[in-house]
Amino acid sequence: MNKHYNHDVLVIGSGAAGLTLALNLATHAKVALLSKSAANEGSTWFAQGGIAAVLDDQDSIDAHVADTLVAGSGLCHEDAVRFTVERSKGAIQWLIDQGVSFTKESGKEDYHLTQEGGHSHRRIIHSADATGQAVHSTLLERAQQNNLHIFEHHVAINLITQADAGSRKLRCTGAYALSHEDDHVHVFQAKVVVLATGGASKVYLYTSNPDSASGDGIAMAWRAGCRVANMEFNQFHPTCLYHPKAKTFLITEALRGEGAYLRLPNGERFMPRFDERAELAPRDIVARAIDHEIKRLGCDCVYLDISHKSPEFISEHFPTVKARCLEFGIDITKEPIPVVPAAHYTCGGVVVDKNGQTDLQNLYAIGETSFTGLHGANRMASNSLLECIVYAQSAAEHILANLPDIREPDPSPQWDESRVTNSDEDVVISHNWDELRRFMWDYVGIVRTHKRLERATHRIKLLRKEIAEYYSNYKVSSDLIELRNLATVAELIIRSAIERKESRGLHFSLDYPKKSAVARDTILVPMNFAGQDIVVSKD
Ligand code: FAD
Ligand code: SIN
Repeated sequence: MNKHYNHDVLVIGSGAAGLTLALNLATHAKVALLSKSAANEGSTWFAQGGIAAVLDDQDSIDAHVADTLVAGSGLCHEDAVRFTVERSKGAIQWLIDQGVSFTKESGKEDYHLTQEGGHSHRRIIHSADATGQAVHSTLLERAQQNNLHIFEHHVAINLITQADAGSRKLRCTGAYALSHEDDHVHVFQAKVVVLATGGASKVYLYTSNPDSASGDGIAMAWRAGCRVANMEFNQFHPTCLYHPKAKTFLITEALRGEGAYLRLPNGERFMPRFDERAELAPRDIVARAIDHEIKRLGCDCVYLDISHKSPEFISEHFPTVKARCLEFGIDITKEPIPVVPAAHYTCGGVVVDKNGQTDLQNLYAIGETSFTGLHGANRMASNSLLECIVYAQSAAEHILANLPDIREPDPSPQWDESRVTNSDEDVVISHNWDELRRFMWDYVGIVRTHKRLERATHRIKLLRKEIAEYYSNYKVSSDLIELRNLATVAELIIRSAIERKESRGLHFSLDYPKKSAVARDTILVPMNFAGQDIVVSKD
């Protein structure tokens, strides 16, 4: 039976961003938290390296801001960077207060801070090499203690909007979600809706991300009339394990931070040839260098070598990586790890202000699904979890201040299934899913050309037409919902990449290899623009 739920706030997504926001609201509002699979299945759970924050006396807010701006290649919004970094210490303290256990210096009370690419100081607080798991499990436990209404295995399909009487301005009043428990689509009505659905790296064939990263929040917001920005900047993590049986496994950048070398199959170190910061150059540079060397030599992978460190050091700092590699017969204390780049992080997303507010009234977006201006053309390592916590907190404050003035939504209609039937052709979904992810990898990957992007445009138009037909004729399923969203996001990425006539950060085009003198965001405006004026121009 189709159910109808009513809450003050509907949070879609149970990663670091969604949980932080929900916990900050829990005692003041009736909150529902949706997760499309188990509550711990998002990118947050898999985060390894840690969280960047200014915690050391030798470090400074100015230094963290400056490093972020350099990594972002001239496109970060400095006000958003400062806003985030200034709140970094408070965000970490909040996590510690929730019970997150971070690694300490051996035998001391001080936290151990590690190093990653682009950072001029040791400023990454971490829980060995499984920081995401420590953060996620602690916040989930807290959520359970706070009696938050967590709806696992509920996939949000579309946002619900209503126009206030006497006004043409729409506001968001909920979402339709498919429940895996009973296979029905339910109405989740709320005064405020928050998208915390993570990124879209699943749009690429090879990715470090879990299956949930299909860009659902970005696609839903776009369909509801919100602007989306800088989608061409998809980050490729330089070092994912290369092994035929390893589905997706990241080898944390903290290995390089602690002295690991990148080597060619003949053992030669190559990063010093590409950048004076060598292995600790920002990710875009390292990923492109690896891609270049793999293509030049025609080899399958390069190697990451930390075997010159003591086995004790490696076991203490990288127990997860060590254990996982051993499962594939690789002993990282004795031999190098075969690695390749893979799609890792969506720097663009739904345009928001500092409170996480989108263009659509009463709709917020936080975490990887949002575009705050923090990351510019290339996210600096470990700034993402920080952004999740900081913006979730500021959004929670803003929601709490405004909630009393928001009118209850009018009752929403049930999901209409009167014109659809059960599909007898699911092969269309699996075929299009594979095709999309492959051409995105081949044509819209680490190195781009205008011709490849035009090919991708042609393909995505055909696919979107076919998917739209399928969607209007058959009952929704999780795979269909995700495929439809992936196709929308792929089109946004391709359009944005075509608009950028330069090479900057993560967007590298052989046709436009130079960086323009002026840095501009790529802001896409939907036909049904929801129209709330938010200032997002760079400074
Ligand atoms: P996620 O944690 O991805 O959560 C998304 C949630 O949304 C999930 O609960 C999912 O089920 C739900 N969802 C999605 N679509 C729907 C839908 N349609 N309906 C209902 N629910 C939905 N960043 C760092 O700062 N430091 C690191 O060390 C680090 N390491 C990383 C390592 C790996 C392997 C990966 C993949 C990422 C890493 N990142 C790291 C990036 C960082 O982990 C993510 O950017 C961050 O966790 C995103 O959090 P989030 O809350 O926005 O989304
Ligand atoms: C890593 O541990 O290398 C990932 C860090 C990040 O994505 O910020």
